[in-house]
Amino acid sequence: MPAPTRDLHDHPASRAGLPQRGRLLEPRAAARRHGQPDGSAGGEVTALLQVENLVKTYPASGGLPFRRKRFTALDHVSISVDRGRTLGLVGESGSGKSTLGRCVLGLTAPDSGSVIFDGADVTKLRGAKLSEFRRRVQPVFQDPYGSLDPRWSVGRSVRESLDVFRVGTTADREQRVRDLFDRVGLNPALTDRLPSSLSGGQRQRVGIAAALASDPELIVADEPVSALDVSVQAQILNLFQDLQNDLGVATIFVTHDLGVVEHVSDDIAVLFHGELVEIGPADRILHDPQHDYTKRLLSAVPRPPLIGAGTPRPTTPLAHPTILPTSARTAPATDIPTTD
Ligand SMILES: Nc1ncnc2c1ncn2[C@@H]1O[C@H](COP(=O)(O)OP(=O)(O)O)[C@@H](O)[C@H]1O
Ligand SMILES: [Mg+2]
Repeated sequence: MPAPTRDLHDHPASRAGLPQRGRLLEPRAAARRHGQPDGSAGGEVTALLQVENLVKTYPASGGLPFRRKRFTALDHVSISVDRGRTLGLVGESGSGKSTLGRCVLGLTAPDSGSVIFDGADVTKLRGAKLSEFRRRVQPVFQDPYGSLDPRWSVGRSVRESLDVFRVGTTADREQRVRDLFDRVGLNPALTDRLPSSLSGGQRQRVGIAAALASDPELIVADEPVSALDVSVQAQILNLFQDLQNDLGVATIFVTHDLGVVEHVSDDIAVLFHGELVEIGPADRILHDPQHDYTKRLLSAVPRPPLIGAGTPRPTTPLAHPTILPTSARTAPATDIPTTD
């Protein structure tokens, strides 16, 4: 397969300093989307995350165990994400998206290749450095049910991260949980609820609040809207957009749906059978796809546009969503029951 089309690095990036505790929910000024870097002249420009030549194989199913071949889930994949940017990672089911996400999160060890976060090889982190990495890089999963303890109030689940990373005093943490709920569009009165009493959209907001609690620099969101109704998908996509604009947290947004990824991505990477076939600015990928597979994905966008989702990053031939004014987009989400 030919080398992937690659024009991701056509914008500058800066190395912002480590986040300081106590500035949770404040924007990373130096990492604002589409903004200028920190203004420092010259110096080395380094991506926040650099994945180089990643290979991951699994034992193939079937056949005799001692003859079993290995199935290549990731085949020399290289991507990078700059501070404050969102990379949409797309491809059909089984193309290796989640495997790549898990390698980035340090949850799956690659066979070869490297995952470099802020200059450090993720596979080699141990002890305090590994804990610090886990604070700085947070997952958001498709089904937050899986990551929320069903016996804990959702407020406690969000506070867990603050406890683990020993952020502030107990009173600070309580206040921060309420701030986080407010930030993700949830009524802070919901903190005492169990996950089972919330809607799918609310649970995903809790999952996002839990991810934000440790003030991460990179979020790996794996199909975060795929389990939601279309109208709720639009609300959660708007939330991702707002968080990107306000907090400047870099994101890898994994989805099988190009119609979703257009709303949140600065750049798009396309995986096909474990190979990266195309990567570049979202506008270019959506308007001028080079690879046949990307063209097929574009022509197969399966459903009408997400009504209510904010402006897609680029103007695309895919969708013409209803563009709501900012005031409407930041209004309380409609999936919040009126009874609380
Ligand atoms: N733990 C595992 N053991 C064996 N095969 C796996 C494992 N995880 C994923 N795979 C296989 O790797 C391929 C890529 O899976 P995945 O990364 O989950 O793809 P995607 O997220 O794009 O659907 C699939 O064929 C899947 O069956
Ligand atoms: Mg997956």
